[in-house]
Amino acid sequence: MSTHPAISWRDVGVELGGSTVVSDVSLDVPTGAWLSLIGPNGAGKTTLVRTLGGTVDHAGDVELLGRDGRGLSVRDRARQLAVVPQHPVIPPGMRVFDYVLLGRAPHQGLRCASSLQDRRRSLAVLQRLGLEDFADRRVDTLSGGERQRVVLARALVQDTPVLVLDEPTAALDVGHQLEVLELIADLRTERELTIVTTVHDLTVAGQFADIVAVLADGRLVAAGTPTEVLTPDVIGAHWGVEASCDVDTEDGSVTVTVRRRKEQRRRPATPATTELAPHATEEDHR
Ligand SMILES: Nc1ncnc2c1ncn2[C@@H]1O[C@H](COP(=O)(O)OP(=O)(O)O)[C@@H](O)[C@H]1O
Ligand SMILES: [Mg+2]
Repeated sequence: MSTHPAISWRDVGVELGGSTVVSDVSLDVPTGAWLSLIGPNGAGKTTLVRTLGGTVDHAGDVELLGRDGRGLSVRDRARQLAVVPQHPVIPPGMRVFDYVLLGRAPHQGLRCASSLQDRRRSLAVLQRLGLEDFADRRVDTLSGGERQRVVLARALVQDTPVLVLDEPTAALDVGHQLEVLELIADLRTERELTIVTTVHDLTVAGQFADIVAVLADGRLVAAGTPTEVLTPDVIGAHWGVEASCDVDTEDGSVTVTVRRRKEQRRRPATPATTELAPHATEEDHR
C-alpha cells in the first residue's frame, strides 16, 4: 500500500469572482478512506472538490497519491481520479452506453477509439449497477435517479483509485440513496478505492464515512471520525439546529436527528376549536 495519503490539501485557498470561497484548508485523506465533506449551503464543498479535478485555480498545494496536482496532465489526472459532479453536463441525445464508454477515454490511444475491452468493461459496470436495460436509451429520457446512476457508471469505468462524488444522492429517494451508497461502499472494498463525497444528510456522513470534515464559510472548522465531529455542539454552531447524535458503539456510526430549536417550536395559538369541529352545531354555541 502507498505510504502517501491518497489526497493531501495543504493551505488551500480559492478565490472566485473576487471573493474568498475556500481558505487555508489543510487535510489528508489516507488511501482507502472515505471522506465526507459536510457544511451548510455555500460553505465551499463543491469548490474544494473541484481543486481535485483541476478545474479551479487555487493557492496552496493539492497532492494526489503523492504527486503535485499542478504537474498532472489531464490524462494522468483522469487515470487517478474520477469525478461525479453535482450537475453533470451530458451531451443531448447521447445513448447511455456511449455516455458510459466516455469514461474509458483516459485509457484509450490518441484517437480515442474504443477497444472491445473498453466496451466489455462498460457493459460490466452497467450490469453491476442494474442499468443494462437502459444501455440503448437516450440519457436525457431517464429519471433523475436513473441518470445519477448512469453518471456514476461513467465514473466507475474510468477504473481510478480515487472516486469523488459531489452530492451523489441528491436526486434519489431514501431507498435508492441507500442502494447507491451501499454500492459505493461495496466497490470501495472490492477495489480498495479512496472515496470523497460531499453530502447534505448528516446521517449519511455518520454511517458511511471514516473521516468527516466540516466546512463553514470556506474554512475547515472540524475534522475527525464521525463520533468526534457529529456532535450537537458542532451541528448547532454551524447549521443552527438542535441535534441529537446517536452513536452506535459497535461500529462507530452516528445517526443524527435534527429538530427546530426549542424557542422556535412554539406553535401559533390554535384557532377556536368550534371552527374546526365537524359536528359543531348552533346548539353548541348557545
Ligand atoms: N464562479 C463563481 N463566481 C463567484 N462565486 C462563486 C462561483 N462559484 C461558486 N461561488 C460561490 O462560492 C461559494 C461556495 O460555493 P460552493 O463551493 O458551490 O458551496 P457548497 O458546495 O458548499 O454549497 C458560494 O458562496 C458560491 O456562491
Ligand atoms: Mg455544492
